[in-house]
Amino acid sequence: MPVSENPETASTLATPVRKVLIGVTGGIAAYKVCEVISSLAKSGTEVRVILTQGAQAFIAPLTVATLSRHPAYTDNRFWQADRGKPLHIELGEWADVLAIAPLTANTLAKLAWGIADNLLANTVLASTCPILLAPAMNTDMWEQASVRRNWQQVLDDPRYHPLEPGAGILACDRVGAGRMAEPPQILAHLESLLHTRGQRDLQGKRVLISAGGTREYFDPVRFIGNPSTGKMGVALAQAATHRGASVTLVCGPMAGELREMLPPIKTIAVTSAEQMQNALLEEFPAADWTLMSAAVADVRPATYHAEKLPKRLLPSALPLASVPDIVAELGRRKQPHQKLIGFAAQTGDIVTPALEKLEKKQLDAIVANPIDRPDAGFGSDTNEAIWLDSRGNRRDFPPCSKLQLAHYLFDAIAFL
Ligand code: C5P
Repeated sequence: MPVSENPETASTLATPVRKVLIGVTGGIAAYKVCEVISSLAKSGTEVRVILTQGAQAFIAPLTVATLSRHPAYTDNRFWQADRGKPLHIELGEWADVLAIAPLTANTLAKLAWGIADNLLANTVLASTCPILLAPAMNTDMWEQASVRRNWQQVLDDPRYHPLEPGAGILACDRVGAGRMAEPPQILAHLESLLHTRGQRDLQGKRVLISAGGTREYFDPVRFIGNPSTGKMGVALAQAATHRGASVTLVCGPMAGELREMLPPIKTIAVTSAEQMQNALLEEFPAADWTLMSAAVADVRPATYHAEKLPKRLLPSALPLASVPDIVAELGRRKQPHQKLIGFAAQTGDIVTPALEKLEKKQLDAIVANPIDRPDAGFGSDTNEAIWLDSRGNRRDFPPCSKLQLAHYLFDAIAFL
């Protein structure tokens, strides 16, 4: 069959200049935003920064100007852009995405009520781009009824994309909610918004994702496993959530810092293939789209020893038993409205075995990705892949971040 061109996916593969405007308000978490600004600038994204008066008590205009490679905007400057337009209009028209981080209770109230008494608040009103909000404040402030009301009010406006604060030790020594989202979470959400332009095109979709590798133990400390980290599955969960889907993630053992990257979704942690199968069979009937990015074991040790085997008793050969093929079972149970996407991590020729699995496992599509290249596969932050679907379409996705690839894949699934 001929390769069909999906115009939406094709256009997103071009990399136009990305323009991000960051609004920093007066909270101690402002120091963390320097990392966001620096990472964006280093990645080739154009960054402009507005500092409110309060923000300048925490970080200096010179700091953000140096990191963003552009003078910082403050209320002290005459509000006239170089080309003569009022500055808030020029900045509002310039930005693809605006992120306000940290967002204080004071600026939140301005957003909720449409108050425009400084450059940042005026720019919000003079722009139409999506706005990412990363609040940070003391727990009592965050839980205050007036703040809850204002937060709910902005959430009701689809223009605003929330990055809820986490819980932890705050700078006021309080332990509780109010910690600003970490820079990697802010960067991931910004990348999603740059891709979607704020569209929540998966709203109403229930997406089930499996991630990571399984471990098949033969005693309490030894197992058959694989190097899968779960990064691709986490990227899929982020992309789907950022696009408005309701996401459930079934994941094998995963590093703590990767788990922290997960948006607030239903997560079921499992260890073995059997546990993964049980969780997926339970969740599958409620899912519209299921993506099996997990590297599930193909075999397990035939016997399990409840006590750790002493070294001298370790067998020289390990009898193996087969593991159920989870995705093949899901393929058999699939209803007409459901889409099932498999992954095939391969070395050498990645297409032929993937096409065989596509058919044998009754998948709607399979994502073949090489694991013998330096910047793709297990553990890497980047990936490359070939999409092959049951309609005969093929798309080659060049090396890109796993989150970017996740967005390309959701664009392609929408066309199935
Ligand atoms: O391991 P293999 O390359 O066959 O994996 C292809 C697809 O099948 C992947 O989506 C993987 O998650 C799934 N799989 C499974 N159960 C297994 C082995 C693989 O669901 N026991």
